[in-house]
Amino acid sequence: MATAVSVKTVVTPSAQAARWTIPTGGAAEANPLPINAATLAGGKKLFAAKCQRCHGPAGKGDGPDADAKYAAEMDLTNVARASRNSDGTVFYKIWNGRSNPKMPAFSEDTSKEQVWAIVAYAQSLRKPPSS
Ligand code: HEC
Repeated sequence: MATAVSVKTVVTPSAQAARWTIPTGGAAEANPLPINAATLAGGKKLFAAKCQRCHGPAGKGDGPDADAKYAAEMDLTNVARASRNSDGTVFYKIWNGRSNPKMPAFSEDTSKEQVWAIVAYAQSLRKPPSS
């Protein structure tokens, strides 16, 4: 037998972590919920329960569990950043999470409907440019 050469596929955590997992077509998915006061209030409650510890009470990335190094990436109120993310993109960022820097995947303990309510609220944090 020829010498077996063991080749390990090395995927560095940072290379893997550089991505969020957005399925094909996911970015184009529209929020199925009506964007009204009730949806936003529900989303706000869920945000306080599940997101605030990292993203902060106003979504600025300054929650107690946040790594200050990533405050800018976690600022959901920054128009320039937040406007890159369609509703579908925000949905899958929340649904699938990422490893480094760590954001938990919420698919395990949150329903799709709840995540869409959170999406509606998170997108409402994006401040319109002051005219
Ligand atoms: C354990 C801390 C933690 C929790 C809890 C958390 N996040 Fe995050 N979130 C992060 C980190 C860290 C990033 C920045 C990742 C990066 O470098 O892009 C992030 C990024 C995001 C982004 C992308 C921002 C952008 O500009 O692309 C969105 C949207 C987001 N979070 C929404 C949420 C919502 C909504 C919840 C609650 C359901 C939540 N996060 C819970 C840590 C957290």
